[in-house]
Amino acid sequence: MAIDLEARWNIGSVEIPGRLALAPMAGVSVQAFRRQGRRFGAGLVCSEMVSCAGLSHGNERTLGYLRIGRDEHPLAVQIFGSEPEVMAEAARMVEDAGADLVDINFGCPVRKVTKTGAGATLLEEPDRACRIVESVADAVSVPVSVKMRRGLENGSRAALSIGPKLVDAGAASLTLHPRSARQMYTGSADHELTAELVDLVDVPVMASGDVDTRSRAEEVLESTGCAAVMVGRAAQGNPWALGEIAGRIEGEPTREEVVAELLLFMRDTVEEMGEQRATGFLKKFYGWYLGRGRFPKPFKQELVRLESVAEVERRLLAAAPGAGAVLERLRAALPAPDNVTLDLPVSIYAGG
Ligand SMILES: Cc1cc2nc3c(=O)[nH]c(=O)nc-3n(C[C@H](O)[C@H](O)[C@H](O)COP(=O)(O)O)c2cc1C
Repeated sequence: MAIDLEARWNIGSVEIPGRLALAPMAGVSVQAFRRQGRRFGAGLVCSEMVSCAGLSHGNERTLGYLRIGRDEHPLAVQIFGSEPEVMAEAARMVEDAGADLVDINFGCPVRKVTKTGAGATLLEEPDRACRIVESVADAVSVPVSVKMRRGLENGSRAALSIGPKLVDAGAASLTLHPRSARQMYTGSADHELTAELVDLVDVPVMASGDVDTRSRAEEVLESTGCAAVMVGRAAQGNPWALGEIAGRIEGEPTREEVVAELLLFMRDTVEEMGEQRATGFLKKFYGWYLGRGRFPKPFKQELVRLESVAEVERRLLAAAPGAGAVLERLRAALPAPDNVTLDLPVSIYAGG
């Protein structure tokens, strides 16, 4: 049977227009990234993981993660933490900010997070994990989803034993990145485990891990029976991968298209977090956009050394003079700024 990547599906009451989702990535999934992902065909986008403690304390920088544009929906905001009540409070803030879904992180393998009892650690603490899902689901009226790894140790099948319990506790959807926390990003995602999870639960499952082309997306959708595939690293500086998977684009972008998308991304990011923070934040994106054989290495290195976003813009436009016209066409097709709701002032985002 042919796989239809455009097929609509639901997480609870929320309709998702397509079976391709953009993965949450800390330090990457800013609003500019999510908006771009929607433009290139992602049916669902997700914020990076947001600390429930940071939200609960009213930390300015953390609150900035709750800025949601009208052109991002449907959008999940992901929270992490280990205390059910604090997670519930954070979830209410996420709902008030306008998110369509609250996603809970039970997958983060990073020690800074796991040592606080949050992230992937919770896969080995099913009772606490279920209490978290229960209190979050009770606190909000939007659907609650959970994203997890397979378990802490290599070969672990913890996700399969905990998955159905999380659904009983109120999860309306599960996402599995079938690597262990110990694996980090080594080895490969074992989507046979995803197929097993799909068989075990009666809510939609999203498959995350190593999906980078349309053919791989179709293979994972077909072999696992999952509702959607999530794409992360393949989309870093490369929205064209999303376009290819969504069936909207064929072939490589031109240099002008690459530079125009990068310039748009840079401008959106500056607007989002202010020039100062954006200058450092954007550096990794230069390599991601201009790599893949698109521009020579010394050029990328030169951009990273420049001290302002404006200087980088000048160098990019000098390297691809036609990009200015492409950028204008892109901007003309975007929703007018007053069509975009910014729920928090920019100054809050830049602060802290
Ligand atoms: C830089 C980076 C940051 C990430 N941050 C998060 C995060 O905040 N929350 C989360 O659930 N997963 C996070 N992940 C995991 C991804 O969502 C995804 O599950 C993983 O990268 C596998 O998918 P991929 O092979 O398509 O990249 C992150 C991954 C990367 C590479």
